[in-house]
Amino acid sequence: MLVAAMFMSLLLAGCGKKAEDKGTGQAKEKVFVMVPKGVHPYYEPCYEGFKDAAAKYGVKAEYRAAKAFEVPQQVEIIENVIARHVDGIAISALDDQGLAPVIEEATKAGIKVITFDAPAPSSKALTYIGTMNEAAGYAGAEELLKLMNGEGEVAIIQGGLGAPNLNDRYKGFERCLKEKAPNVKIVAREDEQGKIDLTVNKTEALLQAHPNLKAIFGVSAEVCPGAAAALKQQGKAGKVILAGFDDLPDTLAGIRAGVVKFCIAQRTYKMGWLSVEKLREAMDGKPLPKTIDTGVLVITKDNVGTYMQDMKKEFAK
Ligand code: BGC
Repeated sequence: MLVAAMFMSLLLAGCGKKAEDKGTGQAKEKVFVMVPKGVHPYYEPCYEGFKDAAAKYGVKAEYRAAKAFEVPQQVEIIENVIARHVDGIAISALDDQGLAPVIEEATKAGIKVITFDAPAPSSKALTYIGTMNEAAGYAGAEELLKLMNGEGEVAIIQGGLGAPNLNDRYKGFERCLKEKAPNVKIVAREDEQGKIDLTVNKTEALLQAHPNLKAIFGVSAEVCPGAAAALKQQGKAGKVILAGFDDLPDTLAGIRAGVVKFCIAQRTYKMGWLSVEKLREAMDGKPLPKTIDTGVLVITKDNVGTYMQDMKKEFAK
């Protein structure tokens, strides 16, 4: 009997989690959860920023990642988080339409939802914090054109074809070529689903199918590390121009070694940090802007050793 009564009271305490703790009069600790597209080293600095900001503001931070970049897996993760009545969720959306219903479900449950890194524009998410992707894709193409002398074949490698953030980058890239370099031709656009091993295979196939390939541009984080490995294996490192998004450690090593010509670094730490700040503001009833631009940086051999300290200076821990 006693055990049953204790169990019931525990259950009830769990139900009223957003209320004040009975007896103590103190508000419960808020729980904010980061949900990336899936397990991937790209999200490590995002979560570092999220955790650091959570520690500063006395919020509990959690990280829930699906094994693969697959919409049903991401939806399931979010449903589990909703069932736990957390206070805020920051999502890097794998897809727009596929995520909108679960974001609506969370919103109806009174949970504040924002997107970071990858938006879901048709969803009820309160804001998007991250790169302005069309412009960043355009900027990436502009940098690449400087190295291509206005002509030749380029292949695009992308980690998933459903995410608006990546498709916007592709659009910006394409627009730049149309406007500035009609003699540069996109000869392929390959999907590697966010997987590095698949990137290696796809790069090998591209090199075979397009013997005159002049450049490879990656719109996702795993492309430069994966393509660099394939180029090295084929003795084409430094001969085929390689560049793309993000500053994973292997990409930076590639820049130092001359295999990768440049990368567009996104401000991942800042995305995580601001996610916590904006979720807090939303909980306080403050309106959030539709988008928050975190900016990008072009990293070459010249600034590869110094840019990281410069980026982090902005945040007092
Ligand atoms: C994108 C992320 C993606 C990551 C790994 C990054 O460029 O911003 O949305 O998850 O690459 O593919």
